[in-house]
Amino acid sequence: MQVYNDTNNRLSKKALSALKSKGIIGSSVFFYDELSSTFDKIRELPQKDGLTVVCAKQTNGVGRLGRSWESTLGGVYFSFVIKNIPPAFEMQFITTVCALGVCRALSKYVPCHIKWPNDIVVNGKKICGILTKCYAPSDVAGALYVGVGINANNNFSSSLPYASSIKAVSGSEVNENALLLDVLNSIDDVLYSLSAEDVLNEYRQKCINIGKEVSLVYEREEIQGVCLNILKDGSMEVLSQAKKLIVNSGEVSVKGIYS
Ligand code: BTN
Repeated sequence: MQVYNDTNNRLSKKALSALKSKGIIGSSVFFYDELSSTFDKIRELPQKDGLTVVCAKQTNGVGRLGRSWESTLGGVYFSFVIKNIPPAFEMQFITTVCALGVCRALSKYVPCHIKWPNDIVVNGKKICGILTKCYAPSDVAGALYVGVGINANNNFSSSLPYASSIKAVSGSEVNENALLLDVLNSIDDVLYSLSAEDVLNEYRQKCINIGKEVSLVYEREEIQGVCLNILKDGSMEVLSQAKKLIVNSGEVSVKGIYS
């Protein structure tokens, strides 16, 4: 399987060391050719805000809801640490904040949107996923770890019909090192410069769920409804059988978008 036409587009230690992030996120970047998961490695390193671990391939990438995350060559897989939550945000809102940061950056490459809570999608296919983990304080002094998997130059087989990549959408390869820097800088901008109200307003504009028919599991029952809004804490308000429900997590399929 051919992944690259131009090998300069690959993530590499040399290329990354020449790039400097402009803020806290990505202020120290550790690159590895292969890891089980960036979440495993980041916990072994000295913890500080913005510490970032990136790799070209994961052998045990983890996704939301206990799924695995396909992490073949051509993707950009990274995790970063937030030790001090910016005072503008509640902890449970951080994934929403990061989803906006990632979507802003990827919009420079392809016309993307956010599928609640934190998938980045183009033309109904997923090009990026975000997962936030919080380890217990006794473990590594109470930090939040945000993991981002971007399908940059990946080639997907038909076994993943709802996945796509920036290369597949735009028709050309992207430089993964520059892409990583763009995303880190954009997350930094949103995390340290915006208010919660600004984030919510822009998130709502980019979110494809609002006003659409959705299906989801709510209190162990499969329900259908219409997404009314995304609320201040990042939860989703759904109108189903004349009742307003608040959904905090889980898998939501949106009519017309991959499900
Ligand atoms: C999702 O299921 O949508 C979230 C996927 C998150 C994948 C990223 S890749 C970098 C980091 N390390 C992992 O093992 N998972 C996250």
